[in-house]
Amino acid sequence: SFIQPPQVAWASGALADGLLLRKSTRIEDLPDVFADEHARQQLVGEQVVYDVEMLDTSPAEGELYTGVTHLYPGRVGCEYFMTRGHFHARREQGEVYFGLRGTGLLLLQTEQGDARLEKVFAGSVHIIPGFTAHRLINTGEEVLSALAVWPGIAGHDYAALASGFRIRVFEENKTVQAKEVQNG
Ligand code: 6PG
Ligand code: NI
Repeated sequence: SFIQPPQVAWASGALADGLLLRKSTRIEDLPDVFADEHARQQLVGEQVVYDVEMLDTSPAEGELYTGVTHLYPGRVGCEYFMTRGHFHARREQGEVYFGLRGTGLLLLQTEQGDARLEKVFAGSVHIIPGFTAHRLINTGEEVLSALAVWPGIAGHDYAALASGFRIRVFEENKTVQAKEVQNG
C-alpha cells in the first residue's frame, strides 16, 4: 500500500505518471525564434522541435510544477534546435533544471542582457536564479531531455525576449559555435 510516485525512465527521460499534461511545439509555432527564417519555413509541417510532459499539480502559491522537456536533435539552417525561452512572468521566481539524457546547452540571460551558457548532460544540475531568462539548446545528435521544477505561480513572459537572446549557437565545420548577436 505504499504510494507509487511518478518516475523518470533512465533510458528515455520519459515521465511516467497517470496525471500528465503534454504539449508539443513545432517549427510553425516558432516564428522569429531562429535566425534563418527562410530555412525555418522550409521545415514547416515536418517537425516537432520539443515536447513537454508535465505533472498535473496545483498552480497555487507555494506549490511546485515538475516537467520534462524533450528537445529533438536538428537545426534550422546551421542553428541548433532550441526552446522558445522565457523570463518568468513573476520575475523573481527561479527554477531548477536537471539533465537526463543527450547533450546541449542552457542559455541564461539576465534582465541587463548578460548571457551565459551552461553545458547540459545526463546528471547536470542547473540553478536558474530569479530575474533570469532560460532556453535549452540541443547541440547533440540524440534527444536532449531535462527535468525542470519551478514555482506554480511563476508564469511565462515570452514577449520580453521577442527580439531574441544575445547569444545564438550554430554548427560550423562540425563544431559548436556560440555567437554574440546585437539584435535577436
Ligand atoms: C517553465 C520551464 C519549462 C519550459 C519548457 C519549454 O518555466 O515552464 O522553464 O517547462 O517551459 O522547457 O520552454 P518554453 O516555455 O520556453 O517554450
Ligand atoms: Ni521557466
